[in-house]
Amino acid sequence: MDEACMKKQNWDVKETELFLEILKDLDMKKCLDGRKVRNNTLFKVAHRRMTAAGYHRSVDQLKFRWKLLKSAYYKCKRSPNAPAPTKIQGWWRYEKTMVAIMESRHPLVGPEVNSDRNDEVTEDSDVEASMLHWPQSCRDNNTQNLDLIIKMDPEMNSHLKIGFIGAGNMAYGITKGILAGNILPENILVSAPSVRNLGRFQELGISITHSNVEVVGGSDVVFVAVKPHLIPLVLNEISPHVTDRHIVVSVAAGVTLATLEEILPENTVTIRMMPNLPCMVQEGALLFARGTNAKEEDGALLRSLLHHCGLVEEGPETWLDIHTGLSGSGVAFVYLFAEALAEGAVKMGMPSSLAHSIASQTVLGAGRLLRDTGKHPAQLRSEVCTPGGTTIYGLHALEQGGVRASTMSAVEAATERARDLGRKPAAGYRK
Ligand SMILES: NC(=O)c1ccc[n+]([C@@H]2O[C@H](COP(=O)([O-])OP(=O)(O)OC[C@H]3O[C@@H](n4cnc5c(N)ncnc54)[C@H](OP(=O)(O)O)[C@@H]3O)[C@@H](O)[C@H]2O)c1
Repeated sequence: MDEACMKKQNWDVKETELFLEILKDLDMKKCLDGRKVRNNTLFKVAHRRMTAAGYHRSVDQLKFRWKLLKSAYYKCKRSPNAPAPTKIQGWWRYEKTMVAIMESRHPLVGPEVNSDRNDEVTEDSDVEASMLHWPQSCRDNNTQNLDLIIKMDPEMNSHLKIGFIGAGNMAYGITKGILAGNILPENILVSAPSVRNLGRFQELGISITHSNVEVVGGSDVVFVAVKPHLIPLVLNEISPHVTDRHIVVSVAAGVTLATLEEILPENTVTIRMMPNLPCMVQEGALLFARGTNAKEEDGALLRSLLHHCGLVEEGPETWLDIHTGLSGSGVAFVYLFAEALAEGAVKMGMPSSLAHSIASQTVLGAGRLLRDTGKHPAQLRSEVCTPGGTTIYGLHALEQGGVRASTMSAVEAATERARDLGRKPAAGYRK
């Protein structure tokens, strides 16, 4: 369809509703917070999805529609009792969805951004930020993966049966993320040898068992979340019951796809995934690699399933050990830094508990700002640095202590260790 033809069409109710649902679905909170680069990706994905649904709009038309909708939202917000007229016909129909979208957004577009003009500035003024691209898309076909997710029936996940072998912290964290999506507790089954960890799953309404085989029998996607040395034992136990219906996802650190594929039946769809501890609060960073038989749509399914656990990315298996160093272990590096920040304040005379509260809030706030603005850390750092001010003095002290080099070495050491563990043959497994 050509541009001229596209311009003639008026937006009808169904089309606008679909557009808003797509934007809502694509997680406005993460994608739209003031970053043009990410906004472009989001609108491109929305464009493809609209096209797939038979609505042919250009990306610019979608952006323009979004601006009008925001304008209507702000007008309404300014005068809720007697809403000013908007350019959107039948605005009341979209108001609820718009409120849901806008109010899930970060305070960056909060109180002071209460005019259309300001909001446009928020979206389009990050020319400087775009000079330092952060974060980079980790794969060229990143958008392609998103496409796959969005082409799937959004209700599809809700019918999936999910199993967990192992009921430890990682299984629990991932479960909480999955439940935040459209999977119901009755569609999840968890196993562990003891009841030690199972109670908290029961509290979420999830069924429990001591039988790993029962989990496999009742699940489409099976997460294997036992300690790495137990993987061979568990896989050998479940192997006779794994069929082509299953996707087996191992979260065990250092256990390679080759090991999983060697123990499980030929053609098993396997995925190796590295989560990190903040999955517990749905702020995890998860990276996965697909095995030989796992198709792109299996990866897309996993991404959509784990969407609420935090950031979910796909990459080649060689990146998983790096991810372990960067993010699995990286969490501990950040804790060490937070602890040191607090201890610095204690040294200067602040009570310990207050110092720790402020340190944790500082790490949280800095992290959210980094993620939500999409700015490069160097840019945010320079924004805090007044010439001759306190921060540059502190940063100089950190550089003298070699913080940058030692942090890089820490990621390197943890990555190498993960690689070493992966190279060790998994003792005692048989096919
Ligand atoms: N924690 C992290 O930050 C992190 C990060 C990335 C990856 N991982 C990976 O995630 C996996 C799980 O770690 P975790 O921290 O959740 O460990 P965890 O808290 O120690 O939990 C392990 C679970 O496995 C269960 N289990 C032991 N033997 C089993 C068997 N034969 N069959 C079924 N379940 C069995 C345990 O049962 P009981 O409840 O009866 O003890 C427990 O529920 C590990 O492979 C780890 O490498 C962890």
